[in-house]
Formats: sequence, C-alpha cells, structure tokens
Amino acid sequence: MSEENNEQPSQELAKEVVIDGVVYFFMPIDVAIKYSDKIKSGFFIPLSEEKRVRIEFGEDDLKGKMVNYKEKGLANILFAKEDYFLFLSSIKRGLTGFFMKDDELASKTLSQQQILMLVSKAVKYIGLDDELVAAGEENANKVLNWVKTAPSINQYFKPFITTNQDEHLKNLFVGFIGIGLVRALSWPPQIYEKIMQAALFGDFTLSDKDIMQVILANGDRSKWSKSYHIHPTEATRLLGRLKNAFSREVLRAIEQHHELPDGSGFPNGLKGLSIDQMSAMLIVARHYVNKLIETNFAYDDRKGFIDEMLSVHFDFPNFQQPCKSLYIVMGIEVPQK
Ligand SMILES: [Fe+2]
Repeated sequence: MSEENNEQPSQELAKEVVIDGVVYFFMPIDVAIKYSDKIKSGFFIPLSEEKRVRIEFGEDDLKGKMVNYKEKGLANILFAKEDYFLFLSSIKRGLTGFFMKDDELASKTLSQQQILMLVSKAVKYIGLDDELVAAGEENANKVLNWVKTAPSINQYFKPFITTNQDEHLKNLFVGFIGIGLVRALSWPPQIYEKIMQAALFGDFTLSDKDIMQVILANGDRSKWSKSYHIHPTEATRLLGRLKNAFSREVLRAIEQHHELPDGSGFPNGLKGLSIDQMSAMLIVARHYVNKLIETNFAYDDRKGFIDEMLSVHFDFPNFQQPCKSLYIVMGIEVPQK
C-alpha cells in the first residue's frame, strides 16, 4: 500500500466551509437520513451560498425534515467538524454500539480479551452454542497471537485493529460464524484456523479514512478510495510474501472476500463457480453479519432476511452448501427447492 493511495479523498467529501470562524463539513443528505437516529448534534441546512437553516439536536422529526429538503433537491447538510467525525464514528460502531451502551466505553480501545468477550457475547446473543464459542475463541487467539510474531503484517494489523476496532470486531464475528458454517457441514476442525485467518486478514491495509469514505459514498463506488478498491488484492499480496504461512485457499478467500456470485462484487467481479468453496463460506458469513449489524441485531427477523439475502445474491450452485449451513446454524428449517 503506498502512501498516495490513502491521500485522495474525493473532492466532494472533503468539502468544507467556515461559518463564524467554525469549520463545517458537508455530509451527503442520503447518509444523514439513513443514519439519522445516530445524529447527536445540531447541523445546518445550506439553502444557498448565504442562506442556511440551523436544525437543533432534539427537534422533532429530524429525519422527516431532511427527507423534505432532499426532495427539494438538497444534496448535503453541514456539520461542525467535531460533530461530523462523532457522527461518522457512531455509524461505524456496530458491535460496540449495540453491546456497550456506554458511549465512552464503546469508543475505548479494548484489549484482545475484552474484544473476544464482546464477540462471544454477540455470537451467543444470536443463539450459537458454547462449543462453537469456545472453538471461535481458541482459533481467534491462535491467529491473533501469531500475528504478533509476524512484524511485516503486524505493522499494518496493529494500527488497523485500534483505529478500526469495529471493523476488526466484525471480522472476528465473521470468523465465528464461518466456523459455525463449516462445522454444520462437518468439515474437519483443522479448517477452523484457516477460516479465522481468512476472516481476520482481509482488511488490515485499510485506514480509518478509507472506511469513512465508504460510509459517505453510500454505495457509490466511484467515491471509494483507491486503497479500498484494491484492499483484497493488497492484503493477499502482503500475506502471500510470507513463505508457507498461509494456504492457497486462505489467500484465495481473502482475495475474494468482497466478491458475489452474481458478479456484483469487487475487485474482480467474479461470477458463480469461479468463487472458491471456502471463499463462499466466508462471503455468506460476512453478508449475514453485515445484515445483523445493519438491522441492529433484528435476530427475530432472521429467517426473512436470510431468505432475502440468499435469493438475491446467492442462488448459485457453489453457494448452496454455505446457504444451507446458515439455515442450520441459525436454527431455521432449510427451505426445500
Ligand atoms: Fe474488506
């Protein structure tokens, strides 16, 4: 990863304005609407170059007001710099936001043990059994202890897990679910560590800024940073340099962790059968975890959103097994085709 890859925020996202000596940042109104329940400060609605309306935190129906302005064609709202970053970090906060109600605690850097406790709590919350939790913890510890002995990776990994703690937590969660999926299909336990490696080492080349840009881009890939576009390939390249540390299937699963069988994934837009079996397990696990976090752990609706997720993206032969497994792991009857 070169330095310059990190230094190219899109013009629009970086736009700022000074009002009465205070720096304000532009936030896409779509993002503000989508995450309106996480707004904890006032902001400005810019009506023209000179004219703005101030909306105070706590006013009735913030979301409705923004939707109205959006319908009138407004593309951005204005947050004071500090509030802008607070809002973004509360959007990023998935697991800590849900399982640590204390905001101050949630923004702290957690120890490896605290992180594992939190993920185990999340995994138990969605109904997975103690044996799986133990297998997840054991393999996560193996992988996390190994990386401390690999300076060429740890120089990226260590800053990654502190600045992007919630991404790291999410990846751990994916590792636990991934182990659950292969266990339900009776894959041998020796594979668990590989699943955990592939889950944990996909994103370590990313900075806080890369992740924030993805949030602000709200689905528009042209607004992602270059580092984000290439991060699966970049992580694979760095890990592949370590002779014999990772098996070929683990490297493939890392390279393919954002691919989707309908070809809508990245970086290569792979389709159907060109996605490997272990990759497919982790792609399904990741999709499921993202969905859980997005819906604030709407665990009771899990059948609906597993059905939807599987019928939209995963209706391909090499995804049958992981999908079937997800139903089993979540204690739902496997639909008959
Ligand atoms: Fe990733």
